[in-house]
Amino acid sequence: MLFPPGPKLNQGEQLQLLRRTPLRFFDDCHQKFGRIFTLNLGTFGNQEVDTEANGKWVFITRPEDVETLFKTSPEIAMAGVANKMLFGSRTQQGGIIRLDGREHMNIRRVYQPIFNGNRMRAYTLPIMATIRRHARLWSRSRAFPMLPEMQRITIDVIAKSILGFDESELFDMLCSRLMCLENAAIQGRDRHMAERELSRIIHEHIATNRTTDLSDREDVFSRLCQLTKPDGLALTDKELHDELVTLLKAGFGTTSNALAWLFACILEKETVRARIQEEAMNAVGGREPAKCRFDQMPYTEAVIQETLRLCPSVAGFTGVRYLSEPLRLGGYTIPAHTVVAIATHILHRDASVYPDPLLFKPERFLTAKPSAWRWAPFGGGNRMCVGRSFAMHEMKVVLATLFSDMEINLDRPVGGSEVQGFFCSPKDRGPHVRIKDRSHDEES
Ligand code: HEM
Repeated sequence: MLFPPGPKLNQGEQLQLLRRTPLRFFDDCHQKFGRIFTLNLGTFGNQEVDTEANGKWVFITRPEDVETLFKTSPEIAMAGVANKMLFGSRTQQGGIIRLDGREHMNIRRVYQPIFNGNRMRAYTLPIMATIRRHARLWSRSRAFPMLPEMQRITIDVIAKSILGFDESELFDMLCSRLMCLENAAIQGRDRHMAERELSRIIHEHIATNRTTDLSDREDVFSRLCQLTKPDGLALTDKELHDELVTLLKAGFGTTSNALAWLFACILEKETVRARIQEEAMNAVGGREPAKCRFDQMPYTEAVIQETLRLCPSVAGFTGVRYLSEPLRLGGYTIPAHTVVAIATHILHRDASVYPDPLLFKPERFLTAKPSAWRWAPFGGGNRMCVGRSFAMHEMKVVLATLFSDMEINLDRPVGGSEVQGFFCSPKDRGPHVRIKDRSHDEES
């Protein structure tokens, strides 16, 4: 079997490099081995995954290979098996992200209408109210870091708008366990305990709410409770639990890190900050929430796309698939039982795809929408992030609401990135900012 070239280090060493310094590792491999390279990562340390995996992970970096991967049948390029290796399968066996085939399609069908772009208006008012409730508590006299604030807003939004939690002791416990799991320094017994606690909280939420009348509620939890599977049965409590935990974990770190990166990128360049602020004032300034114009923010949307291109919130790779049959990629026939993934860190910085790739230039997305094969922060194909429209909308609403309600100034810029599990966060808890209320500040 001829695999694309790769480093000669042993499996343990390669796993360490990918976990500790993924972006530098990808840069080095790309420089040494070119457009397609092989890492020996085994089953990512997850012994409990029972597959015939050969332990090789082939990373692609060119748009034409991304197109081939995303167009390959999901029966051949399987995301569920690969995600079980990546995220483990012991503590939480199911959830859409770990499923393949018909089981995956059935759940995906439930999610699609709920996360459909046209439904985003319904989420706007609660998201705005959440942002303003949190922002009211921020210091007006001292500088503070943005990442923890974005984490608090993001948990609040997901837990209430998607999981159907309301303000309660259980919600407070959920926030504290999720924040704890977000800290990659918490490992071993403590992490295991936090996982178990999170699980218990979700089970308690299900037990309390499942039997109530959910017919007029629109959150994902209520929809999943009312879902009937092809066998005519409802989702079991375990299946429901696995979906809710998956949504929390998939939506929390990704969105909160992306938001912290957004403030870092926007506040570092006065021209960008001024245009964001102008659009925010036009969309929100002084309007009542129902009349805000979040669909008229092309520059802000381009800034979000450019930020996701350059500052990945997921640590350097997406679109992870396990091959059940050989696949031709980058001039090689990649054997069955290999994992293939996109090194987005390289794809997004390719000078032949993005001229001046290291410059922050949102204008590049103003005239052309990002192409599915060149821009993949949300993955793609049939496994494209189901929360993509929700996350894009939430980020726009956060930026427009905050930049319209207050003047935000940079106190301390970000000095690089740090890896937290699968996420890349801005160092030092994100940019440190000082804020001042504007006079038209309105109550939500
Ligand atoms: C900036 C924010 C986000 C980023 C960068 C992001 C990124 C991703 C990526 C890379 C994938 C894998 C796609 C693939 O394998 O091709 C994914 C899948 C997924 N994401 Fe997101 N995500 C974000 C926000 C969210 C939110 C807010 C939710 C929901 C609350 C969410 C729920 C999911 C789910 C359920 C999947 C699995 C889809 C499937 O397997 O069919 N994500 N996301």
